[in-house]
Amino acid sequence: MLEAIKLNVNNKSMMSSFKGKDFLQLSDFSPEEILFLLEEAKELKALQKQGKPHPYLSGKVLGMIFEKSSTRTRVSFEVGMLQLGGHAIFLSSRDIQLGRGESISDTAKVLSRYVDGLMIRTFAHESVEELAEHASIPVINGLTDLQHPTQVMADLLTILEHKGKLAGLKLCYIGDGNNNMAHSLMEGAVKVGMDITIASPPGYLPNGTITEKSIKAGKQFGSTVMITNDPVEAIKDADVIVTDVWTSMGQEEETEKRLKAFSSYQVNAELCKYAKEDFIFLHCLPAHRGEEVTAEIIDGPHSVVFDEAENRLHAQKAILKLLLA
Ligand code: CP
Ligand code: NVA
Repeated sequence: MLEAIKLNVNNKSMMSSFKGKDFLQLSDFSPEEILFLLEEAKELKALQKQGKPHPYLSGKVLGMIFEKSSTRTRVSFEVGMLQLGGHAIFLSSRDIQLGRGESISDTAKVLSRYVDGLMIRTFAHESVEELAEHASIPVINGLTDLQHPTQVMADLLTILEHKGKLAGLKLCYIGDGNNNMAHSLMEGAVKVGMDITIASPPGYLPNGTITEKSIKAGKQFGSTVMITNDPVEAIKDADVIVTDVWTSMGQEEETEKRLKAFSSYQVNAELCKYAKEDFIFLHCLPAHRGEEVTAEIIDGPHSVVFDEAENRLHAQKAILKLLLA
């Protein structure tokens, strides 16, 4: 199976399978496509490091709609477009007519007349689907309440760089299972042959439909999905440990309740003793030291969070190139 994937990844005709497509969730992509994207990201990263120009998107424009805050997503998409020879326009929902009630479908149709691609960060996943349905240009999901697929592409690239492989590794996610990172990690891991375990408190388990689909995909591609309430069971022999904030954007009024619910789900040195000795630690950032992770872990020798943040740029340039070039 993995040999077949390797062979197909070398097939440049795969490029045409991305052109004009949307990038909404990783379950829409085959293992071959995900591995091909990672290869593209590696090539673009090497070109950028060598200072070689790579203007694959010369003259192209990306519109970026933000209904939530962002540091990494906004800057990495904007810089990525610039490095690819194109341009990005930041569209805050506070400023555009969408924020005053103009419909998503009209916004999609109008913006499709001006720009070559749209990136959107919003609340309901259905809003991104609606935008994609009515836009005649590719739409990229820059985070919804349900999914964060561009972040997980950067995570996979980071794991590949540090571990030299993806298939056969065990990834453990501790914390809020019913969150965008947990869902996209599940969908991504099973496609690349990584086993994934998720430990969350009762009431915060991952979305049932995404879990079921991931378990099914895992059976097809040789990976397992385990969901548990027990962090020690989940982290045992893990190669990769991931966590995320306990309170995601839009959930601020639940902060106190969540601090209590997640108090025994902190990634700390005591818990990490159960993982493999050479584990790596990932966090999409922003992080809350002393809540979901201790400073000792996120600022310690196992942490690769800043490589991960940098890889947003390289992974997204690959997505942009394949969808828009
Ligand atoms: N990880 C991530 O998406 O960061 P931002 O919210 O800063 O974009
Ligand atoms: N789960 C977090 C991710 C931030 C990048 C949130 O949605 O706020």
